[in-house]
Amino acid sequence: MLVSQSACAKLILLGEHAVVYGFPALAIPFSSLRVRASVEPDFTSAPGTLTITPPEKEAQRLKNPEAVTDLIKKACEMTLRTLNLSQAPTCVVRVRSEIPFASGLGSSAAVSVAVARALSAFLGHPLPVEEVNAVAFQTEQITHGSPSGIDNTVIAYEQPIFFQKTQTPMGVHPGKAFTFLVADSGVQKSTMETVSRLAQRRTDSPQEVEPVLTQIGSLAQPGLQALEEGDEARLGSLMNQNQALLASLGLSCEALDRLIEAALSAGAIGAKLTGGGQGGHMLALVPESAVSPVKSALKDAGSPHVYVTTLKPAEG
Ligand code: MEV
Repeated sequence: MLVSQSACAKLILLGEHAVVYGFPALAIPFSSLRVRASVEPDFTSAPGTLTITPPEKEAQRLKNPEAVTDLIKKACEMTLRTLNLSQAPTCVVRVRSEIPFASGLGSSAAVSVAVARALSAFLGHPLPVEEVNAVAFQTEQITHGSPSGIDNTVIAYEQPIFFQKTQTPMGVHPGKAFTFLVADSGVQKSTMETVSRLAQRRTDSPQEVEPVLTQIGSLAQPGLQALEEGDEARLGSLMNQNQALLASLGLSCEALDRLIEAALSAGAIGAKLTGGGQGGHMLALVPESAVSPVKSALKDAGSPHVYVTTLKPAEG
């Protein structure tokens, strides 16, 4: 019987990169873009053959398309290990993704989460969310080096979180609806690359990098308060401060700067890169009245894809 499961994309509102060094950060799910994984029995292959069908078209755009198959394979291995199974089932694991790869939206963590959900359900033992999260984190560690864990956590739980390494993630309860526009810079960039470049820079010039990471880390707590109090102006200003700090670490790029400038000029309250940076996507906090002009401005500034997403207020 075919089993199909999905996982969402994510957006980091405040604190990317600093979160790798133990500072807090804020992230929200981006539920309208998803990865889907399906698993079905394979009656034609030798027993124990697990066949992977990656999202060909999306993977082909990467410098290293085999990386996607490797990622799916690792997520399957981690899922089987968590279920204490030494032999793979004879099946086909197929992954389809609406989330662009190497673009700051959490595609790799979403692949792992969707695969862990689908494969464990196919085997009759659907993993609980904490274990899906752990499988995705272990897979990220193998394929990405030193992830903080924020991507897999916000994607596995699919709710806004205040995240700090080694601490239990905290759910965030927005005081009002917040609308964001998300725009593709058209530049692909692997997060592993930006994280390791920053790590090198931190080793070479700690006196230059540490204070900036500390400043970035100090934005998440007021950001949490702004979200929960429904304070759009404050959140926007924190996003702008965050962008200036990330840019000072060399994590922005010309295409991102152009989109951020266009969004702010057209009425966004705050705008910044989201995720690893040096490409990928930017995120703008936009009042309802400015959604349409900001969207047009982002397209005119060259973004090939612009999305609108709303963070809903907490119920009750
Ligand atoms: C990537 O979405 C966020 C980074 O902070 C890396 C991480 O936290 O693992 C850049």
